[in-house]
Amino acid sequence: MITGRSVLSLTGAALMCAASAVGAAVQAPQPEKKKILMVYYSRTGNTKRVAEDFASRTGADIEALTDLKNRAGLWQWFVAGKDAFRKHTTALGPTKYAPAAYDLVVVATPVWAGDMTPAVRTYLMAHKNAIKNVAFFVTAGSAKQEKIPGSLETLAGKKPLGFAIFSKKELTDTAIYERTIISFINSVLR
Ligand SMILES: Cc1cc2nc3c(=O)[nH]c(=O)nc-3n(C[C@H](O)[C@H](O)[C@H](O)COP(=O)(O)O)c2cc1C
Repeated sequence: MITGRSVLSLTGAALMCAASAVGAAVQAPQPEKKKILMVYYSRTGNTKRVAEDFASRTGADIEALTDLKNRAGLWQWFVAGKDAFRKHTTALGPTKYAPAAYDLVVVATPVWAGDMTPAVRTYLMAHKNAIKNVAFFVTAGSAKQEKIPGSLETLAGKKPLGFAIFSKKELTDTAIYERTIISFINSVLR
């Protein structure tokens, strides 16, 4: 005999089934999220700004390299250019993250004398074998950079998933900046 009580419990069971079906749909397997490490060196903040923006948009862990050589002041500016031009390495402060634990390591450097900074050169030399996939961006005064893309790729020993230049134009014009960072993120998340 169907009583009011049994109708209520049948309706309850049906509702629970429907809820678990909805739950199952929500929990459908998601594609694995790439684990990304964003490593950068910045002397005056431009590269730091883009690196922090990249990390906040992609959920990357972020590693700021510290060059233990004094790089402040006019004379040090000159020495910095000379060190980069001569492909010098430097002493780095301690780092926090192991690049081998990441699917992708994005490395960013300011351009100094057409090339990478000693801090980034030192990091890549120490960790290139531990890096599975790499991508680069550089910040610079000029958009015309002939040497540094090849220089970074050769030192890392692998073709980058993406490469971007943030020159004065990208760093000062919001629309151009947005276009550049979105296109870079799309290329590295492919
Ligand atoms: C020593 C030195 C050398 C530089 N050489 C170049 C260069 O060859 N080409 C260029 O476009 N910009 C050059 N720049 C400009 C920087 O690449 C640019 O300002 C960069 O965005 C600075 O990044 P940061 O603020 O993260 O330190 C140089 C800057 C310094 C300090």
